[in-house]
Amino acid sequence: MLRRWRTLSLLLLSSLLPSFSLAGPAFENTAIVRTIELGGSLVHVSTTYAVKALEPGQTVYHVTFGKHEKEKTSWIEAKVKGQVKPLEITDLGERDVRDVHVFAVSLPRKLAINGTINLVLETIQTHATYPYPSYAAQADPQLLKYDTDLFVLSPYTTLVQRTKIKSSSSDIPSYSTPEGIDEFVGDASVTKSGATITYGPYHNVASSTNAEFLFKHQQPISAHYNHGHPVLEVMKLQRSVEISHWGSNLNIEDRFNLRNAGPLLRGHFSRLDYQSQNYFGRMAGHILSGLTLHLPAGLTNAYFYDLNGNVSTSHLRQTPSVPRGSKAIQHSILEMRPRYPLLGGWNYSFTLGFDTPLQDSVSWDAVNQRHIVGVPVMTHIPGSVVDEAEVKIILPEGATDIDVVTPFPALSSAILTHVSYLDTTGRPAVSLSYKDLTDKHTAMIYVSYKVPLSAHLKKPVAVGAAFMSLFMIGLVARRVDLRLHKA
Ligand SMILES: *[C@@H]1O[C@H](CO)[C@@H](O)[C@H](O)[C@H]1NC(C)=O
Ligand SMILES: *[C@@H]1O[C@H](CO)[C@@H](O)[C@H](O)[C@H]1NC(C)=O
Ligand SMILES: *[C@@H]1O[C@H](CO)[C@@H](O)[C@H](O)[C@H]1NC(C)=O
Repeated sequence: MLRRWRTLSLLLLSSLLPSFSLAGPAFENTAIVRTIELGGSLVHVSTTYAVKALEPGQTVYHVTFGKHEKEKTSWIEAKVKGQVKPLEITDLGERDVRDVHVFAVSLPRKLAINGTINLVLETIQTHATYPYPSYAAQADPQLLKYDTDLFVLSPYTTLVQRTKIKSSSSDIPSYSTPEGIDEFVGDASVTKSGATITYGPYHNVASSTNAEFLFKHQQPISAHYNHGHPVLEVMKLQRSVEISHWGSNLNIEDRFNLRNAGPLLRGHFSRLDYQSQNYFGRMAGHILSGLTLHLPAGLTNAYFYDLNGNVSTSHLRQTPSVPRGSKAIQHSILEMRPRYPLLGGWNYSFTLGFDTPLQDSVSWDAVNQRHIVGVPVMTHIPGSVVDEAEVKIILPEGATDIDVVTPFPALSSAILTHVSYLDTTGRPAVSLSYKDLTDKHTAMIYVSYKVPLSAHLKKPVAVGAAFMSLFMIGLVARRVDLRLHKA
C-alpha cells in the first residue's frame, strides 16, 4: 500500500560525494563569528563564515563539528547571509579525523580564485544545558550551566574568529578562562560585558580539524548563568490526527508528558509562599504556571484534560478559518493553566484536542484523483524540547495508494491499521516517530491518498446497519416490555 516515502528538505542526506581531503587549501576563512544564545531546553547557535576561495571553481564548503556539538545539534540550516533560501547540506559523518563530524554545504554559485561569500550556519542544540546545582529551594534563582568547545573547528585557515555567548540575564556567576592559546590572542582571551561573554578575537588559527590541533588547543569552556524561565521538556508527545470526509472534520489530539527539567525542588513546596510571590510579582521565573499555545485558526470543540478530568482554567481566543494557501498566518491562542504550578523535577501529563474544518487542511488533486492532507508535525510549547514524538495520521476507511512527504526525516515510519467505532475493516494510519524536536520542527507532513467510491459508501452502510440493529433491538425490547406489562 505504501508506495514511497520522500523527504522534502535535503538535510542530512547520506553521503555519496567523492572523497576529499580536509586539509585542502581550497578556502580561507577571513572571519568566523559564532553567537550562542543560551536558553533552557533550547540553545540557538548562529555561526557566520566569511569565506574566500583560494582555488578556482569551488562549489562545496565544509563545515565541521566536534563530537559533543554534533550530538547536541537537533537542527541545522545553512544560508548565504541575507538570503532566505537554505543551501543543501550533506552529512558526511566522521571523515579522516576521529571525533570531527563533517557537513558539506553546496554553494549557490561557483567561486573563482579570491571570490568571497558569507555563509550563515544556524543550529539548535537540545539537552545542552543542565541545572547547576541540581537542587534549588522554591525561592532560589535557577542556575544553569552550558558547555561547549572553545574553537569553531574548520579544515581551512581562519584569519580571525570569536565566540559570543549571550545569556538571558547579566547574572553570570562564572565562566571559563581558556589556557595555552597565547599564540592566537591579542589583548584578552575572554571578556564579559553585561549578559555577553566573548571568547576572542583569536588570530591566525591554522586548520583545526586534525589531531594535533585538537590535542594542543581545543578545550571545553562553560558558562554558569541565571535563567529566569522554566526549562521545559516534553518527554513524550503523542499526536493523533483523524480525518473524516464523512463528517468533514479533522480532529487533532495531543497527549503531552511535560516536565520542568530545572533544578529539583529542595525541601517542600509552599503554596502560601508561591501565592505571595505571585501576588508581589516576584514569582521565581522557573516555576511554570501557565502556557500560551498557538493552535490553528478555525478550530472548534477544544478540550483540555489531565489525569483528574477537565481543566477549566484555560482561555481560548478563537480566530476564524483562514482560506487554505492564504499567506495570512493566523492562530487561535490558547492560554492554559495546569492544575498545579510545575516546579523543578515535576511532571504534568495532559491531553489537548480540537476539531478543524476539513477543507482547511485537505485539498483535492483532480488530475490524479487524490486527496492531499497537510498536518503540522506538532504544536510547539514555547521553549520546550520534545524528547520523543509519535505522530499518527488516521486516514478514511478504504484509503489506498498512500504517499507521504515529511518535512525532515523521521526516525521510523509505518502504515498501520486503526480500528474504531463503526469501522468495518479499520482505517489505514500513517505513523511517524521523531526525537529532539524544537521550535524549528513545526513544519507540515503531507499525506496523499485515494478513496475509492465503494469505500466512501462503506461508512453510510455501516452506520445504516448500526441504526437498523438498534431499531431491531428497540422492537424486540418493546415486545418484551409489552409482554411484561401484560403479565
Ligand atoms: C588574489 O588575491 C591575491 C592577494 O590580494 C593576489 O595576489 C592574487 O593575484 C589574486 N589572484 C587572482 C587570480 O586574482
Ligand atoms: C469535559 O468538558 C467537556 C466540554 O466542556 C464536556 O463535554 C465533558 O463532558 C467534560 N468531561 C468531564 C469528564 O467532565
Ligand atoms: C517524571 O517522569 C519521569 C519519567 O516518566 C520519572 O522518571 C520521574 O520520576 C517523574 N517525576 C515525578 C516527580 O513524578
